[in-house]
Amino acid sequence: MPEVSKNINPSKIDVSLSEINDGIYRICGFDDTYGITFNQLLIDDEKPILIHTGPVGMYEKIEAKVKEVIGLEKLIYVAFLHFESDEWGGMEFLNSPGARLVCSDLSSKLNLTGWNNVPLDHISFWDNEKLNIGKATLRFIMTPHVHHWDSMMIFEENSKSLFTSDLFIQPGFNKPVISEDLSDSMIALYQAVGIFASEKPVRITSKRLEKLKPKMIYPMHGSCIDGSIFSNYVDSIMKNDFAYSGKLLGQNMEYEVA
Ligand SMILES: [Fe+2]
Ligand SMILES: [Fe+2]
Repeated sequence: MPEVSKNINPSKIDVSLSEINDGIYRICGFDDTYGITFNQLLIDDEKPILIHTGPVGMYEKIEAKVKEVIGLEKLIYVAFLHFESDEWGGMEFLNSPGARLVCSDLSSKLNLTGWNNVPLDHISFWDNEKLNIGKATLRFIMTPHVHHWDSMMIFEENSKSLFTSDLFIQPGFNKPVISEDLSDSMIALYQAVGIFASEKPVRITSKRLEKLKPKMIYPMHGSCIDGSIFSNYVDSIMKNDFAYSGKLLGQNMEYEVA
């Protein structure tokens, strides 16, 4: 696992593009400091949407890949699923003519107000609200305290695509889509990195997502997961402990006050 003192250098990360499903593209860069990929997802529909922007230093490379699919002037929505730098450090996408920010109602209330230079012009959604972008209909699912308390996920109802942000992530640089069960390495990553304070909200959310019967799962880190193997990942969340227990980014934390 990485040391806390090391920072990634996003501008050094190579970025690749692959079409995962009809009109759904994964823009992926592997960072060897943290040993994980950073994935942005582009849905090319009548009103195209980019889900996650990547951290700030990756912007130019991600922009180049978006432009291989659509002109930036065609980008209508830019979504982030919780307020963190890898999810939307590349705010420059909001300079695209016509691009509008999409987030959860909690992100709007908690994180997009009270700052300088944070765009107030955005659309926010509550649980089960929908946004039609052409063939695709996005359903927004509130997932509070699954990593951050403003977290949400997106389910695209036509293709049954599930965008889970930092849930169901795996380490390493594998092929774009996997049918393999890498849930052991997912759990080991969560135990070492400490991104969940408690298992309970993660388990409630995972069971809820399983009921949607997604055909493809698009985590922000790691490979896309074929729906045929998804239940293994949910089972692993249900039966293993993985919440924070004194390790952050692979390092033990000291609790004693000097
Ligand atoms: Fe995150
Ligand atoms: Fe992330």
